[in-house]
Amino acid sequence: MGEKFKTGLKFTKNFFETGAFVETNRKVELEICNHIPAHENAVIVEFGMGHGNITQEILNRMSSTSKLYAFEVNPDFCAHVGQKIKDERLTIINDGAENLKEHINEKLDGAISSIPFSFFSKEKGSAIIQNVHDVLKEEAYLSQVLLTKFNFKKFQKIFDDCQLLKIQSFPTYYIYHCKM
Ligand SMILES: C[S@@+](CC[C@H](N)C(=O)[O-])C[C@H]1O[C@@H](n2cnc3c(N)ncnc32)[C@H](O)[C@@H]1O
Repeated sequence: MGEKFKTGLKFTKNFFETGAFVETNRKVELEICNHIPAHENAVIVEFGMGHGNITQEILNRMSSTSKLYAFEVNPDFCAHVGQKIKDERLTIINDGAENLKEHINEKLDGAISSIPFSFFSKEKGSAIIQNVHDVLKEEAYLSQVLLTKFNFKKFQKIFDDCQLLKIQSFPTYYIYHCKM
């Protein structure tokens, strides 16, 4: 059974947690990572690692001295990526994005998220975005992928500079690139 097919089955089984039936595609992986800094000693977080497809692309773009902290609520997905990606720059955190500040007390050079905001309460979603805003360095980006553009306003309320991009594929994705 192919890796993508197995991932699809696991995403579907956990639909109310993943918010998706399939892993995001290559176009999304490339676009969402466009603001990942390549400089030395960057600190980056990812929310919603899933089976690690975006995680791998972030690692591809980071320098050898940088660090990636990847948050994922599903313990099976954490174990899967822990087996699949052996990279000392990656720390997997089996916890929700809402607990960012309990794990990281450094300023961030970038944040990448694919967590399903449409399934969160307004309060939970806004708190996650605000927490990232609080710890991002100036000029650093929070980039989010979603299947809808309906959550864009939540990001615009917190970040001054937000760009909305449509990815032409099936399904259609929207990427929000946000900075202060
Ligand atoms: C749409 S999937 C994206 C997975 C993968 N990054 C991709 O691009 O296909 C969303 C992922 O977020 C995880 N997730 C859901 N709520 C979360 C939260 N509060 N914090 C961290 N991860 C969460 C789900 O378990 C799932 O793996």
